[in-house]
Amino acid sequence: MILVINLNASVDKRYRMADLVKGEVMRAAEVDNTPGGKGLHVANVATILGEDCIATGYLGGKSGEFIGEKLKDYGINQDFVRVAGETRSCLAIITDDGAQTEILEPGPVISAEEQEAFMAKYRELLAKASVVVASGSMPQGLPKDFYARLIAMAKEERKPFLLDTSGEALVKGMAAKPYFIKPNTDEIRAIRGTDIASDEDVIREVQRFMAEGIKLPVVSLGARGSIAGYNQHVYRITVPKIQCKNPVGSGDSFVAGVAVGLERGMSVEDILSLGAACGTANAMEDESGFVRREIVDDLFNKIAIEQLA
Ligand SMILES: Nc1ncnc2c1ncn2[C@@H]1O[C@H](COP(=O)(O)OP(=O)(O)OP(=O)(O)O)[C@@H](O)[C@H]1O
Ligand SMILES: [Mg+2]
Repeated sequence: MILVINLNASVDKRYRMADLVKGEVMRAAEVDNTPGGKGLHVANVATILGEDCIATGYLGGKSGEFIGEKLKDYGINQDFVRVAGETRSCLAIITDDGAQTEILEPGPVISAEEQEAFMAKYRELLAKASVVVASGSMPQGLPKDFYARLIAMAKEERKPFLLDTSGEALVKGMAAKPYFIKPNTDEIRAIRGTDIASDEDVIREVQRFMAEGIKLPVVSLGARGSIAGYNQHVYRITVPKIQCKNPVGSGDSFVAGVAVGLERGMSVEDILSLGAACGTANAMEDESGFVRREIVDDLFNKIAIEQLA
């Protein structure tokens, strides 16, 4: 079973409107509510690929109930801790000029009791899992090293932990040496404070992640594929040219493919190919964190892996 941790879920609200003017009353022509959160994308893609998967984390209030119901509709197994606070909403306002303005709520503040309740649930679910994924930001109230604690527990049970987050949560999580990380170049820039301009810069960072104890670091490069490290070697993963509709969630889909590959005991080349195929398949769809199985199967055979170092 793949255990997917999504601590800070959201109801994603997309408003379509003619214009957005500060200080004015604006009317939306259309609103669309969907469950959001990077971990939920991962759980959705792993479920579509037919893998046994459970989504966990925190849900609260009416928004939490809405997400729980939607996950049922999608056929995603769930086991969340209920919290007193209200699960957040994230607003994306799309105006006729093509601009997208986003308002991201911080999410509920997690109490010490709620933190303990998650730890108890995690312990129980971890025993049944063979791969663990944690994706996205952390809600307020949790200690900065929360992911590091979860990683340490998975390591004790010799279970690979895949961490996809950013900023301080990533830095603090990396200290516990997760099996896999998948930063994009913006995320590396933010944590290292250095510019990532060339492939040489990416290769150097991949080697540095391996030296820091991360077994399978991958730096994703959007349409240019990705560069990965494993067992002291560095690989370039090249993906076919596709008609890109919406690349949001491609990184999450990549992570889902890697989790499924690990769960199935695939070779590292096949794990990386499955991840890349899922990332690319997601970019071909309007919906974020969604792939079609037959497209993933087709792309899987079209991914090229070349050893760089
Ligand atoms: N336009 C594209 N064409 C082909 N493949 C793509 C494209 N965009 C993304 N991919 C695939 O998805 C993978 C991950 O994409 P990307 O680097 O954009 O992730 P990301 O920035 O973490 O995205 P997110 O955080 O929104 O999920 C790439 O390595 C590639 O395999
Ligand atoms: Mg990402």
